[in-house]
Amino acid sequence: MPEEKDEEQVQEEISDDLTELEGVGPVTAKRLIGAGYTTLESLVLATSSELAAATGITESAARKIIAAARKRLNVEVMSAYDYYLQRKSVQRITTGSRKLDDLLGGGIETQAITEIYGPYGSGKTQLCHQVAVTVQLPPEKGGLGRTTLFIDTEGTFRPERIVQIAERFELDSEEALKAILYARAFTSDHQMIVTEKAESLMKERDIGIIIVDSLISHFRGEYVGRESLAARQQKLNRYLHKLLKLALGYNAAVLVTNQVVADPGTFFGDPNKPAGGHVLGHGVTARLYIRRAKKGLRQITLVKSPYLPEASIEVKITERGVEDA
Ligand code: GTP
Ligand code: MG
Repeated sequence: MPEEKDEEQVQEEISDDLTELEGVGPVTAKRLIGAGYTTLESLVLATSSELAAATGITESAARKIIAAARKRLNVEVMSAYDYYLQRKSVQRITTGSRKLDDLLGGGIETQAITEIYGPYGSGKTQLCHQVAVTVQLPPEKGGLGRTTLFIDTEGTFRPERIVQIAERFELDSEEALKAILYARAFTSDHQMIVTEKAESLMKERDIGIIIVDSLISHFRGEYVGRESLAARQQKLNRYLHKLLKLALGYNAAVLVTNQVVADPGTFFGDPNKPAGGHVLGHGVTARLYIRRAKKGLRQITLVKSPYLPEASIEVKITERGVEDA
């Protein structure tokens, strides 16, 4: 007898869950469960005709229930054609350097995470300031005419720099400053919360790019030692998913900066590698490496891209920002 009760309880919990879906009342929930659709996952994987046949609900009702379940679980299964159409809506933001734009295949992509890593003083924060401005440019000048959310974890954002860069791009500096939402994040938890809050601002403020400078410093500072590495990586992974979801949901770009760590196994060549390990390596769509080069220039290398070859260019950093060398 207690077994039966358990089962009933389980059913109760499941049907509670299902009735939270749009279009599912207690009666429909019962039908779904009776036909074996006891979880959101099972609904996500069903086709509308299959579900209609098994439960006796109409096909259009079934379609709505499946869509609601997908939404709840954040699963978007789509045909390659739909994906193709979605990709066509990808836009690019000029970096303000023609060469860097070319390296990126036309600029920083929306619906993706672009990472720039490099040692201290290599120019990562400078580039962030610049892109916070260029996204505001009208499309005919390579921008999106949209605003920036700037998440600063190191306290190195300088509004004065925005003024200089805005002048270079012939934007009104006051307007340019107003079009940048600035958030200082003091811990990795704070960084997560600030980013979560962004969800409601994305549409309201028409945010075209989220900049996180730096993505990793709090994570590295708070999770020290081997035993906390797994926890750190898990949290970092969750954070990256959060960013990607915003990028996809609002056709926005994400630009993050990352530090380098010395690879002790390197005897020849460059010992610098990006921090964040595989989680970050897999989580970002495109990856740039910036370092100081000869004559005060900066070399930027595209080290990862889904479709572009590895290549390098050189730029200079001046009071006007990042410019072609
Ligand atoms: P970390 O955050 O410390 O890892 O470094 P970063 O890669 O963010 O470096 P950042 O973008 O802050 O670059 C700082 C460097 O940019 C300085 O060392 C300068 O070489 C250069 N820079 C910044 N502002 C100016 C400027 O107004 N004129 C010139 N000529 N160079 C500048
Ligand atoms: Mg910096």
